[in-house]
Amino acid sequence: MKAFILSSSPRRNGNSALLADAMREGLTAAGHAVDLVYADEIVSHFLRDCRTCRKTDGECAIEDGFRSAFLHRFLPADGFIAATPIYWYGVSAQLKAFFDRSFCYYAASYPQSANVIEGMKGKRIGLLLSSEETFPMVSGGIVAQIQEYTRYTRGSFVGVVHGIGNARGDVRHDPNDPIGSARRFGETFFTRHATDYQIDTPRAGKVWG
Ligand SMILES: Cc1cc2nc3c(=O)[nH]c(=O)nc-3n(C[C@H](O)[C@H](O)[C@H](O)COP(=O)(O)O)c2cc1C
Repeated sequence: MKAFILSSSPRRNGNSALLADAMREGLTAAGHAVDLVYADEIVSHFLRDCRTCRKTDGECAIEDGFRSAFLHRFLPADGFIAATPIYWYGVSAQLKAFFDRSFCYYAASYPQSANVIEGMKGKRIGLLLSSEETFPMVSGGIVAQIQEYTRYTRGSFVGVVHGIGNARGDVRHDPNDPIGSARRFGETFFTRHATDYQIDTPRAGKVWG
């Protein structure tokens, strides 16, 4: 399988980047192809008003690396993993801009929007978080956002790893070993049991065994 990891902190040697690296190692060890991309290498601009910005041939006029990364690296992937520091109880602006900029390509005014929508659908989705604070709802808004993104794109939200740390690399000292958890998350990302039932979903009485 192919996994696309978007590492969205501006700190290349920061905490969420360490989780992204560990996730890459785990996915690779399990035999998957991994593409790890740093958001600020591909996204240099916010979404603009497509009605005034779009070129006459329908292409997005924003000149940065988003188009190529989104169309040729993100869309073909079977799995998408977003790594982000918690900023103001939300995702980094870099990650949010990545989601926002996809609008240029799935909007009906983009000539190949139907293909883009097909590519956005049905991915396995994972989340890697780092934050200074530990209270459970520090990540509540982000988990809710990714859950809704997953529902909207008919994907499957298979898990979250949250490391605690502040200074660069601090997350290595988190006694819950989020780096090890991210590695194991990578190893099982495409095979782990992941469910989101509705009332009439057929199911067995036991989950395991
Ligand atoms: C702009 C900014 C906002 C932040 N907001 C929060 C916050 O709301 N809650 C929190 O626990 N930590 C917050 N932090 C701390 C970071 O989440 C923490 O340092 C994290 O480990 C950074 O990850 P990184 O090394 O991947 O950049 C904030 C840091 C910055 C720079």
